[in-house]
Amino acid sequence: TEMQSRIIEEIQEWKKKRNAILLAHNYQLPEIQDIADVLGDSLALARAAVNTTKDVIVFCGVHFMAETAAMLNPEKTVLLPDLEAGCSLADSITADQLREWKAEHPGAVVVAYVNTTAEVKAESDYCCTSSNAVDIVRSIPEDKEILFLPDMFLGSFVKKETGRENMHIWMGECHVHAGIAPHQVEEVLTEHPEAELLVHPECGCSTSSMYLMSEGVLPKDKTHILSTGNMLKHSKDSQADEFIVATEVGIIHQMEKQNPTKRFVAANPEAICPFMKMITLEKVLAALKENKHVITVPADTAKRAKLSIERMVSIG
Ligand code: 13P
Ligand code: SF4
Repeated sequence: TEMQSRIIEEIQEWKKKRNAILLAHNYQLPEIQDIADVLGDSLALARAAVNTTKDVIVFCGVHFMAETAAMLNPEKTVLLPDLEAGCSLADSITADQLREWKAEHPGAVVVAYVNTTAEVKAESDYCCTSSNAVDIVRSIPEDKEILFLPDMFLGSFVKKETGRENMHIWMGECHVHAGIAPHQVEEVLTEHPEAELLVHPECGCSTSSMYLMSEGVLPKDKTHILSTGNMLKHSKDSQADEFIVATEVGIIHQMEKQNPTKRFVAANPEAICPFMKMITLEKVLAALKENKHVITVPADTAKRAKLSIERMVSIG
């Protein structure tokens, strides 16, 4: 609309004025994806935050992502356009709960998914995202016990992929991905038997997809469990012309934009993250104009989280 174009023009002017970069996650609203300087998955965005030479990072994503960017760049201003943009998965474990869990397993190595608060990262040895979780677990000596948190579906996926027996998994979940159930995937597959299946490991259907692959029910060459960034890459590279997408539906905008002749079907069209959708063009403009909301992490927390985050950015 005309209104939107005017806001976008203003955003571009303010971006120059503030020497700012706009980072956006693949689940953002289409209009936010379209104005992003870097659009990507959690790992790509953390790397972009490290590599930018700009003074201000406007993070179009959720709170833990902005916090991670702030810890990687203490000298830069990191803005989150809406402070309410949280994450149900990050909320599923507190630093106190993690300390208790560690006390039950002395000597265990703690691997935290990036979807955690800074305090939880400060209690962890390694941080990972969905695109390098398997590589990170493989890099830890076999004889070490592992505490993996907070996502149970990603955890069981990594455990199956690595064959790691001495790995304990926290029973947390993302309410959006957990809601993508095996029966929904099966129904959509019946309607689209030729389609390739792309599954995010946080999904309620990811472990059952692995099981169905091992049983030969799902064809191995047509079923892929991937991070959002790797789903985009795969949908571009693949020869298939139809895909069933089992993750937050916001990514379909980008898939269609990059592949105008291919078809993308949501496994569950109601898989919408309310937190990701809180970031609007109006709020991005207000963030730049009014320098809000500045995300900072206490220096001692950031210091304790540093090694785990640096391992995340450098592995895989
Ligand atoms: P990735 O984009 O890293 O795959 O993560 C998905 C997610 O749920 C982010 O909140
Ligand atoms: Fe968190 Fe799930 Fe939303 Fe990702 S989709 S930000 S994991 S609530």
